[in-house]
Amino acid sequence: ESIKVAALCGSVRQASYNRGLIRSAIEITKGSIAGVEIEDVDITALPMLNTDLEGGGRFPPVVEAFRQKILEADSILFASPEYNYSVSAPLKNAMDWASRPPNVWADKAAAIISASGGSGGSRSQYHLRQIGVFLDLHFINKPELFIDAHHPPGKFDKNGDLIDAETKERLKQVLLSLQTFTLRLQGRSKLKN
Ligand code: FNR
Repeated sequence: ESIKVAALCGSVRQASYNRGLIRSAIEITKGSIAGVEIEDVDITALPMLNTDLEGGGRFPPVVEAFRQKILEADSILFASPEYNYSVSAPLKNAMDWASRPPNVWADKAAAIISASGGSGGSRSQYHLRQIGVFLDLHFINKPELFIDAHHPPGKFDKNGDLIDAETKERLKQVLLSLQTFTLRLQGRSKLKN
């Protein structure tokens, strides 16, 4: 059984390592995980959240289109850098837009991956889990993937592409866990991961 995954990158910079992780995840699923389809859903065009823009009970078209992508997904893959010990502002903005009633995150499975400075983004991942409590997101617990983007050097190339085989294998394990958990959450499988 196939699942649709919406991947969100919390960084808007061109050679983002986190966007590179999403490209790598897409490549991994195409090559070696049957039944998982990942789409990189762009959040950069979203305006800053402003409830005045919800006039007449309608969202701006770009917000509506984003909300629809989330609604159609079975699960969410978050890939975000840590900014000042928390999630990035662009990602939080996207999460806030899709939380406006009706909250389209509800009951979805999710996984978080991050490439960041020293701690690999662990603090931001735990903040993201906390935000997900109110949104009714359900995160896989393990495996956790915190990638220190710079130490040791050479995990990413200058375009932000992941070129480290061991990290790719760890990423694959996250995707397999998300697949199993999504199917369980939806009652499509009783297998435990
Ligand atoms: C950072 N960075 C960072 N890293 C970290 O591990 N903990 C942190 O608290 C912060 N804080 C922070 C704040 C701001 C404003 C910036 C711009 C950067 C470093 C950041 O995570 C790192 O540059 C990542 O490589 C950025 O991800 P992308 O853009 O490569 O996906």
